Amino acid sequence: MISVIQLLLLKLNPEIAHHIAVRLLSLYQFFKTKILRQIPQGVLLIKVPRHFEWKLSSRLGMAAGFDKQAQVFPALFHLGFGFVEVGTVTPLPQPGNPPPRIWRVAPQALVNHFGFNSIGLEVFKKNIRHYRRQARLPVLANIGKNKSTPAENALSDYESCLKALEGNVDGFVINISSPNTPGLRELQSTEFIRALCKVLPLSSPVLLKLAPDISISTLQEICELVLSEDCLSGLVLVNTSRELSEKRGFSQGGLSGPPLFSTSMDFIERARQILLGKKIIIGVGGVSSLEEAQQMRDSGADLIEIYTSFIYQGPKLIKTISSRLQ
Ligand SMILES: Cc1cc2nc3c(=O)[nH]c(=O)nc-3n(C[C@H](O)[C@H](O)[C@H](O)COP(=O)(O)O)c2cc1C
Repeated sequence: MISVIQLLLLKLNPEIAHHIAVRLLSLYQFFKTKILRQIPQGVLLIKVPRHFEWKLSSRLGMAAGFDKQAQVFPALFHLGFGFVEVGTVTPLPQPGNPPPRIWRVAPQALVNHFGFNSIGLEVFKKNIRHYRRQARLPVLANIGKNKSTPAENALSDYESCLKALEGNVDGFVINISSPNTPGLRELQSTEFIRALCKVLPLSSPVLLKLAPDISISTLQEICELVLSEDCLSGLVLVNTSRELSEKRGFSQGGLSGPPLFSTSMDFIERARQILLGKKIIIGVGGVSSLEEAQQMRDSGADLIEIYTSFIYQGPKLIKTISSRLQ
């Protein structure tokens, strides 16, 4: 039944398919949690720097961008994800870039140019508070800035998100790496990160999400900074790649899926050499099998996230990885 739904969804326009998938997950969530009341529990303890810990049911999480409105994360837990990164949320609601803004590309990859279509902090926070009652596994909020906010005021957008959501999530991921918001990736600088550290909450772990298109020297500089700054708990490596989508002839958008795997692995290995297990690394980018997830783990990722291969391979892949990933 699930394979048939999945095949049908893959025949539809990708954005419509996404909306239908979210609707179906909402229904699934309703029946699973309201009627069957099977709430997954976390048994795997992950120690996060600065004296935090997460209790996960598996090391596999859903990457940011799937549950942008924080409305189906309990269903994702039921499918076998051990944690979920919700968002990206921006302080104010915004529509994102005009459609079409997502394309399927061979081999089982995606190019997206959503540009933070966001319901805004207020509704996002209500959703988290509402649905968290149904789910006891970690929820990380991925936060960004509004398109209309000039770069020099970006910090205040992140600060608004942190303040509004503090106490409602198990951690934050600072998105300074989406290729679809003009100027956002320039925030991947030691200067901005130092300024950010001054406004970070003491009560939550905070990770930075980086792009696969930054130079190795920038990656190393940021890793050194993350290692030295007490306020940062780690890194999420990596976001979608503008370089790889450009190579395929797209004038906009970032590529995700299998072609990203070698870069995400390279970034994780390099980050591990600097962070030496003292900070958390969440590895994401192109994982499409249990073997690749394990390879990423063995290269230094404490936790793994996927998005694109879930779209192409569905819940079966999640069950396989989450039950066997070491
Ligand atoms: C359609 C789509 C939307 C995304 N939206 C976001 C987002 O809002 N915020 C973010 O940090 N990453 C976003 N991402 C990037 C993913 O979280 C992930 O970093 C990337 O897709 C690489 O993982 P994958 O190859 O497993 O898909 C998005 C990816 C896709 C395919």
